Amino acid sequence: MVLTAFEETLFRKIASAAEKLEVPAYAIGGFVRDKILSRKTKDIDIVCVGDGIALAHEVASLFKPKPKVNFFKNYGTAQIKLPEIELEFVGARKESYERGSRNPNVETGTLEDDQNRRDFTINAMAISLNQQDFGALLDPFDGLLDIKDKIIRTPLAPAQTFSDDPLRMMRAIRFATQLQFHIEVSCFESIKAQADRINIISKERIADELNKIMMAPKPSVGLDLLFRSGLLAKFLPQLTALAGTEYVDNKGHKDNFYHTIQVVDNIAPHTNNLWLRWAALLHDIGKAPTKKFEPGHGWTFHGHEVISGRLVPKVFAQLKLPLHDPMQYVKKIIELHHRPVSLTKENITDSAIRRLLFDAGDDIDDLMTLCEADITSKNKEKVVRYLENFEMVRERLKEVEEKDRIRNWQPPISGEEIMETFGLSPSREVGNIKTAIREAILDGIIPNEYEAARNYMIEVAEKLSIRRF
Ligand code: CTP
Repeated sequence: MVLTAFEETLFRKIASAAEKLEVPAYAIGGFVRDKILSRKTKDIDIVCVGDGIALAHEVASLFKPKPKVNFFKNYGTAQIKLPEIELEFVGARKESYERGSRNPNVETGTLEDDQNRRDFTINAMAISLNQQDFGALLDPFDGLLDIKDKIIRTPLAPAQTFSDDPLRMMRAIRFATQLQFHIEVSCFESIKAQADRINIISKERIADELNKIMMAPKPSVGLDLLFRSGLLAKFLPQLTALAGTEYVDNKGHKDNFYHTIQVVDNIAPHTNNLWLRWAALLHDIGKAPTKKFEPGHGWTFHGHEVISGRLVPKVFAQLKLPLHDPMQYVKKIIELHHRPVSLTKENITDSAIRRLLFDAGDDIDDLMTLCEADITSKNKEKVVRYLENFEMVRERLKEVEEKDRIRNWQPPISGEEIMETFGLSPSREVGNIKTAIREAILDGIIPNEYEAARNYMIEVAEKLSIRRF
């Protein structure tokens, strides 16, 4: 493990402050793990055997200008935000949790006590910031070996560690996904056995871990583990309802859960937009409620995209995900996800292309990205053919957009102009004229231009027997 010059100087400062106060201090947890893994580090947790707040003040006094120390007396924690990195100070603890609560009874403890109460061996390593063994790695549970073997394991018996804080079940799966590590068998068995306990964790925290899984390079690893552990069913039953294959008359359908997580993997290299990844995750949830076996025909999921879209607000509310823009965006992409497929047929009119541009607006590229990710056929020739079809749709979209500029369509004639021309007050008639103009443009009856739209407005008004003012 190689410290940067900045980290070395910083740690020397903390060491001298710790020596002055006679409190042994250590860098611990995620920072140590990420250093060993050569991952980017974001903050540094410092634990000391003594008063963490006092140590933070002492450390701050060694900087010029002196940084502000934010501290929380009740929790015994303090925070210093340096321009380069954030430091969190806390006194070593020995914690015991009460069942049914995440709030521990905190007692002061030794470094060993503090390491014992941590979630995973790879997160329990400490670096000494004390003069006598400065820089030594204190690794009582062989976290280093687990990093080498790519294993997620708890320091204590897993049942105890997960029962102390059930969020750790999600964290185990999140780390396994981000780091591409394996969860040790007894550890995974324990998650299965305690999956119910996830119910005491707030939805925000669950969603936070889920989002980290979704942003990993291969989210299916975590989604599959969440499914197999029984956790996913507790907070996203709409997704687990897609799992499995049913057979009637020897006819089966694909396992839509495994199809879905493959789609999320497919989309991951093409977008870092969390919400587009969510659209991939939820795009088929309407398949469970719409599934039917039609004799002589086979399995159908008619209208599933509309039902999937309709379920989005419920899923977002149940996981306390942001309800406004991201939810509307996910809903819209999902509702539209079959439209480009229908545009891959022969003889598609410009009008159908314009309608999709109008409905998707600026999200058209994201929609196409989802459609391409939705191809999970194992038949390579089919995949190539489908992708070529979508490439053609993309080209048509580009051509029509260049010609007609529909993507960010603004009505060329405003409601005010209609009212002024015909002396109307706000009414259904004004809306009807506006809609008629929009439809004429989308159908290609008139070009997307002011003059043509104005003439058309007058024509429509005459038909409706509305006289000019
Ligand atoms: N920790 C724990 N149990 C939890 C959360 C955290 O034991 N439920 C401990 C772990 O030792 C962890 C440290 O607290 O390394 C810091 O936690 P946190 O900042 O949440 O996570 P990191 O491990 O730093 O990882 P990330 O930043 O990716 O969340």
